[in-house]
Amino acid sequence: MGFLPEHALCMAPMVDLSHVAYRELIRAYSGCDLFYSEMLNSRMVPSEDPFTSPYLKWVNPRDLIFQIVGDDPTRMQKAAGKLDTYVPWGIDINMGCWLNKVVRHGWGVALMKNITLASQVVRAVREITPRPLSVKMRLGDSLDKDYLLDFVEMLTDSGVDFIVVHARTALDGMKRKARWEYIAFIKQHSKVPIIGNGDISSARHALDMFNQTGCNGVMIGRQALITPWIFRDIKSLLAGETAGAPPNLQQVILDLSFLIEKHFPPQTALKRMKTALPWLARNLTFGHFLSKVVSKAAGMDEIRSRLLQCFETGIS
Ligand SMILES: Cc1cc2nc3c(=O)[nH]c(=O)nc-3n(C[C@H](O)[C@H](O)[C@H](O)COP(=O)(O)O)c2cc1C
Repeated sequence: MGFLPEHALCMAPMVDLSHVAYRELIRAYSGCDLFYSEMLNSRMVPSEDPFTSPYLKWVNPRDLIFQIVGDDPTRMQKAAGKLDTYVPWGIDINMGCWLNKVVRHGWGVALMKNITLASQVVRAVREITPRPLSVKMRLGDSLDKDYLLDFVEMLTDSGVDFIVVHARTALDGMKRKARWEYIAFIKQHSKVPIIGNGDISSARHALDMFNQTGCNGVMIGRQALITPWIFRDIKSLLAGETAGAPPNLQQVILDLSFLIEKHFPPQTALKRMKTALPWLARNLTFGHFLSKVVSKAAGMDEIRSRLLQCFETGIS
C-alpha cells in the first residue's frame, strides 16, 4: 500500500462544508489523515484563482485531496493538471454524486454507467498527475456484483491507486442504510486498497466498519461535521486506548466561526457559518433553537453574540 496510511482516516468531500475552515477545525483535533475538498467542477477549475476562490483555498496541501467532477477526459485532465501544480497529497475523481444537477450532465455516479468513458477519464487524469489518485464511487445502479467487479478492475487497470466506496446505489440517494456488505465484497476482490464510506456514526462504529469489511480506511462525512474530534477518538480506539472527553462545544463553534471569518469574505462567511451550525448544533438539546436564532443574524459578530446568549440561558 505504501503511500496510504494503515487504517487511513479520511474526511469526506462535502459541498459547502469540507472547505478550508472546517478542515482546519478538524485538523486541530488531529487524527484525520486525509481531507477531501468539496467537489470541483472541471469546467471551472482552469479559470479559478486559488487566492480568491472559496473552493480552492487551503492551508496544508500535504493532507489534501482535490476532488474533481466531470466526464470529459480532456477537461478533467486540464483541471487535474492545474490542481496538481498546487502539490496536494492527491487527486480524486467523483463517480459517486447522485444529485440531478450533476448526473444530468453525465457526471458523478452517471459515469459508472459508461465504463469506457469512465476509463478514459481515469487514464487522462492518471497521465497528468504522479500523485495518489482515487475514485469515489457508489454501488452503481443495480447492485450487479459482476458489473461492480468489472468496474473496479477497470479502475485499477486505468491507474487508480485506491478506491472509496460509498455503500449505496445511485437510486438509494442518501436513503436506506449503507450496504457495508458490499464494501466487504469489493475489498475481497480488489487489488487496490478500499476506503469504506457510509453512515459511520461514532468512533466505535468506525471500528465496526474496519472489522466487518476488512477495508483499508474509512471516510466520514456527516458525523465529522457533528463531532469534528471523531478522528482523534478513532485513533485512540485503534491504539487500544479509550477515547478522550469531548471538547467544549461552545468553544468548538466559536473556533469555527473565527476560522470561517479568517478564510472567507463576509457574505460567504455568513453563509458558510449558517450551513455549518446545524450540524454542530445536533450535539445540543437546544440545537434546533440555536440554529434558528443564528439563521437570522446579519454578520459574524451577531452570530457569536446570539450563540453566547443561547448557551448562557441554555435554551433561549
Ligand atoms: C452536504 C453534503 C455534501 C456532499 N458533497 C459531496 C461532494 O462534493 N462529493 C462527493 O463525492 N460526495 C459528497 N457527499 C457525499 C459524502 O461525501 C459521503 O459519501 C456521504 O455523506 C456518506 O458518508 P457519511 O454517511 O459519512 O456522511 C456529500 C454529502 C453531504 C451530506
